[in-house]
Amino acid sequence: MSVPVVRVVGDGVVECAEGDTVLRAALRAGLGFPYACNTGSCGTCRFQLLEGAVEHLRADPPAWTERDRERNRWLGCQARPLGDVTVKVRLDPEQVPPHRPVVMEATLVEVTPITHDLSGFAFELEGPDVEAFVDPERLRLVLEAFVEALVWWAREGPIRISAERRDGLIAVRAARRGTELTPERAAELFEPRAPGSGSGSKIGLWVARGVAEAQGGRAGVEIDGGLAFVLELPEPEPSFPDPR
Ligand code: FES
Repeated sequence: MSVPVVRVVGDGVVECAEGDTVLRAALRAGLGFPYACNTGSCGTCRFQLLEGAVEHLRADPPAWTERDRERNRWLGCQARPLGDVTVKVRLDPEQVPPHRPVVMEATLVEVTPITHDLSGFAFELEGPDVEAFVDPERLRLVLEAFVEALVWWAREGPIRISAERRDGLIAVRAARRGTELTPERAAELFEPRAPGSGSGSKIGLWVARGVAEAQGGRAGVEIDGGLAFVLELPEPEPSFPDPR
């Protein structure tokens, strides 16, 4: 049986795997389909349906308005095609995924209540273990400091965390758009600040930098259309002799 295809006006045709939403199909194909919450709450992924039919995964997603219904506009993160469809959406080059989403098996290992209507979910991915190159507790501490600072100092869209190998280093990057900080002000966030001096943790990034340096690496900040914190650590030595 053929899978539905999503034709994005002006930007080509993508296949939509069974159960996929319009948003996920577009991201898997490398398109910069705009989105933020992925839960039907913000409306960032709104598109206009020109041909075909879709249905929403959530019966009544909060961001789907009466006006949307009148204009045949739907939410990409909730809309599942019921056959071939043609959609109109303004793609955003900044939303082109650096790593395309893939379907993976995972096991739910923990549910942590955060507020009365919000919970955190921890999953374990199936597959080979990743080589540990840093104390996981310390890595968590650094990433928490990055995320907290991004929540305070950048206000647009999702926080994106990625990791890559480059020049003998492993670089972990946490970034978000929409900051008014200059590079100089951003660099100052790594200095401990007095209680009552502005928003966010006063020592989180300072501690994060100390942790990074204790591991032989560094923690820094970049301003490039958004705010990005970067942790760089030296790649671990191979634990077995090189056969060459
Ligand atoms: S991404 Fe927020 S409603 Fe779809």
